Amino acid sequence: MLLIGQLRIASSLVLSPMAGISDLPFRLLNRSFGCEFAFTEMISANALVRANKNTLKMLSANTDDSPLGVQILGNDPDVIRRAIDILSGYSFNAIDFNAACPVQKVVSCGEGAALLREPVKMQKLLQAIVSNTDLPVTVKIRSGWDQTSVNAVEIGIAAQDAGAAGLFIHGRTRSQGYRGKVDYTIIRTVKESLEIPVIGSGDALTPELIRKMFDETGCDGVAVARGAFGNPWIFRETVDYLKSGRTPVRPGLSEIAETMKKHLDLLISYYGENTGVILFRKFYAWYSRGMPAKRLRQQAFQAAARDEMLHLIGALQASVTV
Ligand SMILES: Cc1cc2nc3c(=O)[nH]c(=O)nc-3n(C[C@H](O)[C@H](O)[C@H](O)COP(=O)(O)O)c2cc1C
Repeated sequence: MLLIGQLRIASSLVLSPMAGISDLPFRLLNRSFGCEFAFTEMISANALVRANKNTLKMLSANTDDSPLGVQILGNDPDVIRRAIDILSGYSFNAIDFNAACPVQKVVSCGEGAALLREPVKMQKLLQAIVSNTDLPVTVKIRSGWDQTSVNAVEIGIAAQDAGAAGLFIHGRTRSQGYRGKVDYTIIRTVKESLEIPVIGSGDALTPELIRKMFDETGCDGVAVARGAFGNPWIFRETVDYLKSGRTPVRPGLSEIAETMKKHLDLLISYYGENTGVILFRKFYAWYSRGMPAKRLRQQAFQAAARDEMLHLIGALQASVTV
């Protein structure tokens, strides 16, 4: 269980925000395998106040997609306040502030992980959010900007003082990007320094690694990100594994194929056939990871129609079965 402000979540696993991935179809699919709490993709406060069409679409959710947090990115308190006003018209259950994104075009605008170098500014921005909403507000950070400036404890305390109800920490620095080892020690130190719940992020790729995150850091929750790529079963398997300690049983081929079809159709009903099939291509590769299906994966990257993709899903099942 996870308690973020007044928000009670039945599980301590969270689907982490992922730009270009965590859309409504992806969240719904993961929820059907036991994900209880998810976040939208990162929403730029600037784009939101400009009513950017793609950004508004990223705010779509439905009643099966709850509880749901929205993650915002920004660096100007006025713009952020206006964005929060707009978000009040939606049914989100929490707001997360992004102080973690390492992407150059984001940090060069002073947003995302750039705020790790400006704890006072980060705190003011967070206060601007907290004072403009009744929803619980969390913040997502990294361990620091680089190895010489690991300041997650300072940032965490500033966030807590600003009224944050929880903190997500990816145990890598901005300069590490997604490479190198996760620093469990810094997550543990942050957890021990704060009173608000701390959710660990980084290499939560298998039930065993998720348990390692809990054991090594004492964190209150774990955010699942790349571990859910073509693998929504990670939620169900982790819940079982944490309870029983038994090695999780992997889904069989027919369940994988059924889930692929479901995922494809969720994407198509949300984006239309053309875009839905194109977006599914990378998922085909992820679902078939570890299978002897190089040719099929290559064909999937060319597929343009639902029928074609369905055929390739069937062929995957057949080729691996025989
Ligand atoms: C494709 C991709 C997009 C991401 N987008 C976001 C984002 O929008 N907001 C965010 O806070 N983190 C984002 N992340 C970081 C993840 O939420 C997570 O913290 C990170 O991947 C570490 O977890 P993992 O090693 O288990 O994947 C993204 C990660 C990936 C791989």
